Order: sequence, then structure tokens, then C-alpha cells
Amino acid sequence: MRTRYNAKAIDELNRFERYIKTKEDIQEIINKKNNMKIYLEIGMGKGDFITKLSQLDKDNIYIGVEVSPPVLALAVKKLKRYKKENNVILDNLYFMSFDAIDIASFFQEHQIEKIYLNFSDPWPKKKHAKRRLTNERFLEEYKKVLKKNGRIEFKTDNRGLFEYSLVSMQNFGLKFIEVYLDLHKTDVFNIETEYEKKFSPFGPIYKIIVEY
Ligand SMILES: C[S@@+](CC[C@H](N)C(=O)[O-])C[C@H]1O[C@@H](n2cnc3c(N)ncnc32)[C@H](O)[C@@H]1O
Repeated sequence: MRTRYNAKAIDELNRFERYIKTKEDIQEIINKKNNMKIYLEIGMGKGDFITKLSQLDKDNIYIGVEVSPPVLALAVKKLKRYKKENNVILDNLYFMSFDAIDIASFFQEHQIEKIYLNFSDPWPKKKHAKRRLTNERFLEEYKKVLKKNGRIEFKTDNRGLFEYSLVSMQNFGLKFIEVYLDLHKTDVFNIETEYEKKFSPFGPIYKIIVEY
């Protein structure tokens, strides 16, 4: 995702009250919201998906994770506009910035209900396969924080990443719950992401739901 570095935007991100930086702070929030389930989107980009999803389920906690602070700053800007235009309260939605590989240093064991991976970077070169968010290294880290029977919901328009993820998840021993070869041709409930809106006119959207 191309982003112009914008110091003002980063300042705004740092001032955003639901931008959570430490394990201690996110754990304090989780503890206060007793019995709420926790859902994560990793690689949330500008955040349309997690924002809309959090609105549909005010009884639980939604956390958008994005490795790039400048991208997250754009998400904050967008969220503020969305809040103003729609006059909504978004008190169950939080943003964090870290690399997904470090997920277990922010959450406790078996704390997360579900992880959404939407249009993750495909890293097409074989030598970069380890960076794909469905690589075994990442599946191992997700396993630590996901509940027993916790799920991953993965969407992509990239055929190569889809095939790679099927094999990686299968080899890891995950249980396949649902697989779609052309999600938009089904009547399955779907919230479109920014990338999905942009790239779905050019080909099918693949979706995989797996369980640990
Ligand atoms: C192609 S964009 C998709 C954004 C959004 N999910 C969508 O569908 O519109 C992938 C996003 O994942 C983020 N990302 C890539 N690797 C990551 C990692 N290891 N941990 C967290 N975020 C990551 C990128 O910075 C980028 O914003």
C-alpha cells in the first residue's frame, strides 16, 4: 500500500484515544470489558471492514492490527469521517500497530475468538514466502492466542496466495470449514474491504474459513 509519510497524521494517530500501544493497555481494556469476545483483523489497511463489522456487533471487542503506522493514521482519519457522517458510537473498536508475527506478545494464550485476514500482501516471490500471513510461522503464532476451535477467515483476490494458503493451512492440520472459489457469486454475508472493492471487478474473490 503506497502511503505518503505525513507527520501530522502520525500525531493524530498518537492522539487517537483508541489507538492502543502496549500489551498492558490492551489487557486492561479487555479485563474491563468482562466476557466480551475478541475479534482481530490483521493487516486492516484503512479499516473499512473492521469498522463496519464492529458496528454490527456492539457486544464484543474488535481490534484492527496494521503494521504500518502511516496506513493506520489514514484509517483513523477515515474512521473520524465515518463517525461524523453516520453519527455512530464506535466504543468497541480499537486499533493497534505491530507485526503479526509478534501477536503472542500482545495477547494472552487462547484469548482471541477469530482472526480475519483480508487481502494480505501476496509476496509472490518464493524467497519471500515466509512473509505471507498464512505461512506456517504465522499460523503457529495465531495458534497461541486463538481459543481452542478459534477460526481464521481469509479472503483474497490473488490465486497464487489462495492456493498457497490452502496448502499451508492443510499442512498445519487446520480444519476446513468453508472454501469459496468465487465469493461474490454466492449469497454469503460479506463486508467488502477497500482492496476488495478495487479488485473484485477483475476476477473472483476467494475465501477460506479454517478452525484450529
Ligand atoms: C494489501 S493491504 C490490504 C488492506 C485491507 N485488509 C483491505 O483488504 O483493503 C495489506 C495490509 O496488510 C498490512 N500488513 C502486511 N504485513 C503485515 C504484518 N506482518 N502484520 C500486520 N499487518 C501487515 C500492510 O501494511 C497492508 O496495509
